[in-house]
Amino acid sequence: MSARLTDRVVQLMRAMSVEEKIGQLNMLTAGLVTTGPGDPANYLEALKAGRLGSLFNLFGRKQVRDVQRIAVEETRLGIPLIFGYDIIHGHRTIFPIPLGEAAAFDAALWERTARIAALEGAAEGLNLTFAPMLDVSRDPRWGRIAESAGEDSWLTSLFAKAKVKGFQGDDVKSPLSLAATAKHLAAYGAAMAGRDYAEVEISERALHEVYLPPFEASVKAGVAALMPAFTDMDSIPLTAHVAILRDIVRRQWGFEGVIISDYNAIAELIAHGIAADLTEAATLALKAGVDIDMMGHAYVQGLPKALQSGAVTMDLIDQAVGRVLMLKEQLGLFDDPYRDAAANFDHKARRVEYRDAALDAARRSIVLLTNRNNVLPIRQAPRRVAILGPLANAQAEMLGPWSGAGLIEDMVPFLPGLRAAWPQSEILHTAGVDIEGGDLDGIAAAVDMARRADLTILCLGEQRFMSGEAGSRGRPDLPGHQAELAKAVLDVGKPVIVLLSSGRPLAVTDLIERADAVLATWFLGSEAGHAVADVVTGLWNPSAKLPVSWPVDVGQIPVFYAHRPSGRPKLSDFRYESKYLDLPNEPLFPFGHGLSYTRFTYSGFSASPSELRPGNKVTLDVTVSNEGEVAGEETALFFMRDPVASVSRPVLELKGLAKLTLAPGQSQTVTVVLTTADMMFPGQDFASKLEAGEFLFFVGSSAREETLLKASVRLVR
Ligand code: NOJ
Repeated sequence: MSARLTDRVVQLMRAMSVEEKIGQLNMLTAGLVTTGPGDPANYLEALKAGRLGSLFNLFGRKQVRDVQRIAVEETRLGIPLIFGYDIIHGHRTIFPIPLGEAAAFDAALWERTARIAALEGAAEGLNLTFAPMLDVSRDPRWGRIAESAGEDSWLTSLFAKAKVKGFQGDDVKSPLSLAATAKHLAAYGAAMAGRDYAEVEISERALHEVYLPPFEASVKAGVAALMPAFTDMDSIPLTAHVAILRDIVRRQWGFEGVIISDYNAIAELIAHGIAADLTEAATLALKAGVDIDMMGHAYVQGLPKALQSGAVTMDLIDQAVGRVLMLKEQLGLFDDPYRDAAANFDHKARRVEYRDAALDAARRSIVLLTNRNNVLPIRQAPRRVAILGPLANAQAEMLGPWSGAGLIEDMVPFLPGLRAAWPQSEILHTAGVDIEGGDLDGIAAAVDMARRADLTILCLGEQRFMSGEAGSRGRPDLPGHQAELAKAVLDVGKPVIVLLSSGRPLAVTDLIERADAVLATWFLGSEAGHAVADVVTGLWNPSAKLPVSWPVDVGQIPVFYAHRPSGRPKLSDFRYESKYLDLPNEPLFPFGHGLSYTRFTYSGFSASPSELRPGNKVTLDVTVSNEGEVAGEETALFFMRDPVASVSRPVLELKGLAKLTLAPGQSQTVTVVLTTADMMFPGQDFASKLEAGEFLFFVGSSAREETLLKASVRLVR
């Protein structure tokens, strides 16, 4: 995005009053959907008075057109509005939550679903989305892990590029594109103890190595906007963080797009305790480089006073206004404020394609966690099957926590999906218990059904708003009386397959250990029921992998694979080693875990050349074989470790992946090429370093080190 102003923008700025300029920096909610605190201000009044530059939470062709018409025809300068909305995992067609979609490890899929979401959003008058969410998330207590691509920085960077490309297309000017907003910069995922909006206490190194790279990737991909996190870094809320927003984002990365505050975040600088009033809050945010005030009313109320007192300069305001107007220019809004081509785009013809994409995304997101005695797939329709649990027919829950404009009635929950797959089977169904609250009265009926059936599919998990924003849970396990239901059904002693719907990994080790098979189904969106049926019946061989470690117990959190080595690693039963007395160190399932109905083996791993110099490439080759009976897809994960460096390096770091589709008995060699740039790290002074010595590379199916193949190279100078 270029910050160079067009002649039109320059002319416009000459004609604008100070109030009109500040108005361009003001973003209000229209309140059609509630995504934050406070009453929707009277946005039409603000608009007519030239005090509104962008609006969010309003969609619908006519609704948006009516407001845009006022902006263009009834305001003094006729400046069109930006219309934003949170399109996090689909607009009308709902795709799996990002954490689920991340499990596909599939950039092409991520781009495709963002593209469809953009097409549907644009058709309803939107031109900006507050997505992708790029917060590396290592704490399943934090509800917003659901919106993220999980625990890994490299994978989240890949996700960032794919999503930006999908939303923005080749050019945001196209009426079929949305400007994307990478959020929430940065380290929001490290909110203390997983409590939303809480303080963040991480090292500067973690900021640079783990949390910032996905945002830098989004900037490189041309993202139009960034949103700072609500939270702080080093006691400075990101909304006022000059060192991060100005020095790193604007200067080092060269980001010239707009920075949009989070909802009311500028005003919240007062509650953070770094501003006494809205004027001080506005001053701090503007100085940090925040261009748009979302619902804080701080710029409109505070900036005139700050300007008068000399706390901010007109030049600073002009810079922000220039960026906002340039976004409007880049969106083509001055020439085509209604973006009519988006409305005329023939969506009806594409409905089937969108549903297919939703089915594909949902199937690719389902992680087969366990499958004892290969109980799955169920290739022969059961004579009588019990489909039990409060998530079995939970149509609304399938929408997940950020459901755009998705409609409950368009969701296919598990029960009808499985019913369609097994038209001849007798299906017994009861919820047994509520998701949360309620009583135990329904358990007896559920047990009776489990007894009478050949097979039980037990659908458990969370309600959709138990994750997402403000959806933190101190105990991420089964809410309500679901654990009692599960125990009673498992005690029947017949085969039980558990479908676990959640916005996060759930610490339900007892359940996972007792069930015959467990599928993590997250919140899968429009096609949830069909996708699950395809996996259960074996029409689709599961290929997804966990993008986040799955804890044994809440006491392990945060548990993630890319940790640094301890000086006293756990090697034995000797007491004085890094471990718990009452829990294992390892998660129940590592990052990358996900079973298939076939078996893949890895062999012949090599890294070459064995000696490299700065600037060289290193080629990693491995042969993957399908040794099972059915075709399947595998994602090979390539990790690196720098065993001796000037700063302690993580035990494993994901550096690449390769996807393969293999017929039974088929083998294929895949290659990932890295360069010495991939072997660099922030040194003691945080400048990027490439240090000579040995580097270890690993490949395999997950981050469980003992299952990985290893090769090494030496970097010489
Ligand atoms: C607050 C959330 O943190 C952010 O992700 C979202 O985009 C805004 N509300 C607008 O809804």
